[in-house]
Order: sequence, then C-alpha cells, then structure tokens
Amino acid sequence: MKTIAVINGPNLNLLGEREPERYGGETLSGINARIAAAAAGLGADCTFFQSNVEGEIVTAIQRAGGADGIILNAGAYTHYSIAIRDAVSAVSAPVAEVHLSNVAAREEFRHTSVIAPVCRGIIAGFGGDSYLLALRALV
Ligand code: DQA
Repeated sequence: MKTIAVINGPNLNLLGEREPERYGGETLSGINARIAAAAAGLGADCTFFQSNVEGEIVTAIQRAGGADGIILNAGAYTHYSIAIRDAVSAVSAPVAEVHLSNVAAREEFRHTSVIAPVCRGIIAGFGGDSYLLALRALV
C-alpha cells in the first residue's frame, strides 16, 4: 500500500468560511474526506496535517520524508519560505505542490513559488479537486 502525506499550511483550516468566492465552500475536512476515499480506491493510505506555523510544516515534511509522496499546499509560505523549500529538497519523497486557486492569475507576488523548483510538479486552480489530481499523479 502506498502512503501519501497531505500537508496544508496557514489559513487552510479556514476553508469553507474563508473567501468562498475564491476558495470555494468546501471545508478542509470535507476535502480530506474526499482525498481519503479516492486514496482507498487507488490502494493508497493518506495522513493529514495542517498548521499555521512554518516550523511545524517543516517538521511535518521531514516526518513524511519516507512516504511515497507528499501533497503540499503551503499557502502563503509558498511565495517566500526558504525553510519549507529546504525541507522539500531534504526528503526523498516526491512532492506535489497544490493550490486551490490559480495563483498565476492572481496578484504578482503569488506568481513566484520558491518551492515549485524542488517539487515533482504543480497543480493549481481546480479548487479541492487540485488535491485529488495530485493524489492521482503521485500514486
Ligand atoms: C493558496 C494560494 C496562496 O497564494 C494563498 O496564500 C493561500 C492559498 C491556494 O490554495 O490557492 O493561502 O495556497
């Protein structure tokens, strides 16, 4: 059985109530339930972690380093956290960077991801389905 770690960063705990016109009305636990169901169908097992704290996300990536894949939405840290980028570089698990919104179509500061160059790939703009597409890609 493949193991996939799903790691979410700051403010993603507020999904459902946070700017629903941008991020949709689905909660993080609703998205996680959909990921878990899809993973079962693919013969994979997922773990779920969310934190608003940069260092805790670094530790979660390190702990998931031996997984078969990591789905990472680092939220705003995507755009400037060298510590999270270094954690992604340090682990052997392939990392899929995901975003609910199409960051390329938003403010210019969101066009840069310091994490993307060390990820296996990026999926953005498909709401909660971005995570499901990443799961399928990693498995
Ligand atoms: C986000 C995009 C980021 O720019 C933003 O800071 C978020 C959410 C997304 O999933 O679309 O918190 O990662």
